[in-house]
Amino acid sequence: MSVTIEASQRLRRLRMKSAFRDMVRETELSPKDFIYPLFVVPGKKFKKEVSSMPGVFQQSVDELVKDCTETYSMGIPAVILFGIPEHKDEVGSGAYDENGIVQQAVRALKKEVPELIVITDVCLCEYTSHGHCGIVQGDEIVNDASVELLTKEALTHAQAGADIIAPSDMFDGRIGAIRNVLDQNNFHNIPIMSYAAKYASGFYGPFRDAAESTPKFGDRRSHQMDPANSDEAIREVEEDLIEGADIVMVKPALPYLDIIRRVKDTFAVPTAAYNVSGEYSMIKAAGRNGWIDEERVMMETLTGIKRAGADLILTYFAKDAAKVLARK
Ligand code: PBG
Repeated sequence: MSVTIEASQRLRRLRMKSAFRDMVRETELSPKDFIYPLFVVPGKKFKKEVSSMPGVFQQSVDELVKDCTETYSMGIPAVILFGIPEHKDEVGSGAYDENGIVQQAVRALKKEVPELIVITDVCLCEYTSHGHCGIVQGDEIVNDASVELLTKEALTHAQAGADIIAPSDMFDGRIGAIRNVLDQNNFHNIPIMSYAAKYASGFYGPFRDAAESTPKFGDRRSHQMDPANSDEAIREVEEDLIEGADIVMVKPALPYLDIIRRVKDTFAVPTAAYNVSGEYSMIKAAGRNGWIDEERVMMETLTGIKRAGADLILTYFAKDAAKVLARK
């Protein structure tokens, strides 16, 4: 006995040949989608792998220049820099020192790889002795005094030649304050990529090894968002856009794909997603154990983030994925 299938729609028809699948594919990754995060440290000829992030390094400026030359040659248009200073103090003064590590790195990169877009992460957590993103008074991470320091940090980055400024602190009012200071100093053409909906996430663990920025006490829940909230993300993004953000970011990416989609549908502005350290390290670890096919899962993950609505993806996989795309 044979069943009669009524459906005239047979969705499998267009899956039968790989050429058909190629012809109707909705989402296509490109190296142009990627922003590659890099960690820069003082010194020379220094390159040390981060133990919880295989394939990711802390490196001195000379090594960074080599890495960025290669990154750019692979078709990746942009990098984002995180600095680990020589000395940390209570007020994170290394962050807004015009000869700070990120400022030095930006100058070198704009000289040696001028076409590469250099984005700088603006935050204090890598620079403070307590590891918090701002100034601590009693048990409070204070908002306005911290924002003032962030504006100084952003300005020194722009003066060093940064192409885009990316504040990652999540304090209130910082986008407007940074926009004002940049404009007053003739940097009105420097865009701001705001970490707009940044959640208080366990997925930042490996990054804090890489950036040596684990808080010595407490956590970041008084400024980063509660993972349970979605409406609040819309308010955060709206606020940053009103204050002058040019690109808004959702971070992390994978547990927040719904937020990426909501932000993209609501505002229709350039939207970035940060495929963060923990998301990277989980795939690397499972891949190394032979539990998953690392390359396949990497490409599926990045495709999913783009399909959810991200125009740009900050990812430690940028070079690995660009290599796969170049083979196709
Ligand atoms: C803060 C900052 C963090 C990340 C990017 N910028 C860490 C934090 O908020 O603790 C995390 C990125 C990642 O996990 O890959 N400067």
